[in-house]
Amino acid sequence: MTQTLQTLSGAELAPDTTPVLTVQGLTVSVRTESGLRPLVEDLSFTLHRGETLAIAGESGSGKSITSLAIMGLLPPPAVRVTAGRISLGATDLTALPESALRRVRGDRVAMIFQEPMTSLNPVLTVGMQLAEAIRAHQDVSRTEARSRALQALTAVRLSQPERRMLQFPHELSGGMRQRVMIAMALAMRPEVLIADEPTTAQRSS
Ligand SMILES: Nc1ncnc2c1ncn2[C@@H]1O[C@H](COP(=O)(O)OP(=O)(O)O)[C@@H](O)[C@H]1O
Ligand SMILES: [Mg+2]
Repeated sequence: MTQTLQTLSGAELAPDTTPVLTVQGLTVSVRTESGLRPLVEDLSFTLHRGETLAIAGESGSGKSITSLAIMGLLPPPAVRVTAGRISLGATDLTALPESALRRVRGDRVAMIFQEPMTSLNPVLTVGMQLAEAIRAHQDVSRTEARSRALQALTAVRLSQPERRMLQFPHELSGGMRQRVMIAMALAMRPEVLIADEPTTAQRSS
């Protein structure tokens, strides 16, 4: 039920007064037959480099919707940001076109989704999809991408990482798949990492 928005690599950096992420007066609404209904209303927070922010709230209170708004992945056309700003450093994400947002996603903000099965490609091995995701955002060779993928799987303490690289998502438990998702998000080396209930499928690992 908790959700964290976390910045990485803060410890070794000098304190910076500009927040990495600023959410100001964020309102997300859904269009219904009787008009716009707010799902998240007037939410504000800032996140500085190296900080971890946890958002706790009951089911349906808008934690996932907030995360999707930051990622620019709200389900169109019914749900959209109707007020407020989301800024990544100096960039106003709510004003970016989809093409630019796609670059921000993964590059600068990564998200570990609540449902790992729907976010992994069932026909690609774990190693291939990790390497592919890394190469989509970083200019590295196939060999380097593979080695970073293995590093990431090791970092999240997945058992037998070498063997997992060659397996398909359905061959792993829910908890292992979630670790793969976490590894993928970490391998992107984002400025902000959003984890939407990342431990809910961890029971079986
Ligand atoms: N695609 C959608 N269309 C309309 N309403 C939605 C959609 N997704 C979520 N909601 C509504 O938005 C509210 C917040 O949901 P959500 O962000 O998933 O809550 P949480 O993650 O805190 O449990 C809920 O009332 C939910 O029913
Ligand atoms: Mg949720």
